[in-house]
Amino acid sequence: ALAKLGAAVGGGFDARARATGGAALQMTRDNGAPIGSNRNSLAAGDTGPVLLEDTTLIEKLARFDRERVPERVVHARGTGAQGVFRATADLSDITKAPLFGQAGKETPVFVRFSTVIHPSGSPEGARDPHGFAVKFYTDQGNWDLVGNNLPIFFIRDAMQFPDMVHSLKPSPVTNKQDPNRFFEFFSGTPEATNMLVHVYSNLGTPASYRTMDGNGVHAFKLVNKDGKVTFAKFRWISRQGVKSLNGDLAAKAPANFLTDDLYGAISAGDHPTWDLMVQTMTADELGHLPFNPFDDTKEWLDVPFRKIGEMTLNQVPENFFRWTEQSAFAPANLVPGIEASPDRMLQGRLFAYSDTQRYRVGANVMDLPVNRPRVAVVNNYQDGQLDAATGQVEVNYFPSAARGRSVDPSFAPTPYKIDAIVRTAPISKTEPFDQAGRFYRALKPADKADLVKNLAGDLGEVTSPRTRTVMVSYFLQADRDLGARLAKAVNVPISDVDRAVAEYQATADARYAGVQ
Ligand code: HEM
Repeated sequence: ALAKLGAAVGGGFDARARATGGAALQMTRDNGAPIGSNRNSLAAGDTGPVLLEDTTLIEKLARFDRERVPERVVHARGTGAQGVFRATADLSDITKAPLFGQAGKETPVFVRFSTVIHPSGSPEGARDPHGFAVKFYTDQGNWDLVGNNLPIFFIRDAMQFPDMVHSLKPSPVTNKQDPNRFFEFFSGTPEATNMLVHVYSNLGTPASYRTMDGNGVHAFKLVNKDGKVTFAKFRWISRQGVKSLNGDLAAKAPANFLTDDLYGAISAGDHPTWDLMVQTMTADELGHLPFNPFDDTKEWLDVPFRKIGEMTLNQVPENFFRWTEQSAFAPANLVPGIEASPDRMLQGRLFAYSDTQRYRVGANVMDLPVNRPRVAVVNNYQDGQLDAATGQVEVNYFPSAARGRSVDPSFAPTPYKIDAIVRTAPISKTEPFDQAGRFYRALKPADKADLVKNLAGDLGEVTSPRTRTVMVSYFLQADRDLGARLAKAVNVPISDVDRAVAEYQATADARYAGVQ
């Protein structure tokens, strides 16, 4: 047995397992030393205590004790799969990113779908925006498009994100999620109205991860080889069609139904596919929009989409933890030709994800198989917890005549001019209700009824008359019919709602100008 073990050692854990050809392998400790018992602790006689010198037991329990890394602070419940992205257009006129350089070009991807607020073991039927995060392993490094199934978001400045998440997470006192808390937050956040009508529609409870669209949500800056900038928004359109559950069906869905559905389909060879679409605008065109183009609570409505590629998921990861749990998606993982826009949410996200991952998984998170780029990583970063990098050499600094390293200035961020007063102030053109109303009016009658029912379910639990009235007043400003139906459903007198609207509108001009 030892000879067999010796022959297998060297290729790592996987190679060792493969080398058996199915024969039983001698078990070892992590230091490779064979063990004599994997069932019985080292004990002093029949009735005596277990000994501290039982290093096999101590190591086994210690490894078990450390099986969890802290779960993601949001999007903890998720499911991943591998696949391939194929460009269907040549976008080199607007971006130098090689993955869009020619039709037919293939790029491997890893995708993780998720819910947002609830913990890692929570039922998958919970109402939530649903994460749609795609890691493209491109020829010039990893590009992560970390989006959601919904096209917009609740808030428009990263400064508000921790407060919003606190309000949505369980109460620090009762440890239960509480509509009193999050609707109080949203009653001070009218810009969330558009996202709320989306998440409380049946889009908040997809029938399957395969039947939801994905959205990059923010604007990005595309740059071509001549430095020309085009602004873009990305959307994944499901070829399976968008299908959702109503609230009652979602509440009854088995806890793991979204994962089971995705794994089941892929394993059966029914590989889900999405078209990647893009909307593009020049800086001049952006200025003509009636809203701020970098406000992620707004869609670029009425701007045409064109198809630029398609993605197929074709493989279930061989190990959930190694691939899905350890995957680290970060909006900061951009590649030449795709840069950040000034969207204030995106700007905050550029920091937050890589930061949490260095804390949660460790400084060498990018060296794990799921996160490792498919191209050589050349830099002088070193050490830290779990450093498995090979080939660290004497010259770990730059510049050095002894070790050839270079940087090509054409990969530097595109220069741009800023003429601005540095200050903390809201963005301009903040009108929050128009798109929420358009969304409501486009729903079919049955979907409108479900939205009212879903919203009234949670809003009806709010005990504060002020919070309920203000919330209904926002929905009423989006659409009078929606507001009136909700007012009735949650017993708020319509005269109170109209008064709240008047109070809101008295300050609307200042808000619209972005000075309040
Ligand atoms: C996950 C922060 C807004 C989509 C996360 C994580 C953090 C975070 C800390 C956990 C990452 C990890 O532990 O690996 C923030 C902050 C935001 C923000 C600070 C606002 C400033 C958004 C928006 C979207 C989004 C607008 C959608 C466009 C996601 C997705 C994941 C995620 C899909 C899960 C990625 C995965 O599957 O691992 N977010 N988030 N987030 N966020 Fe955000």
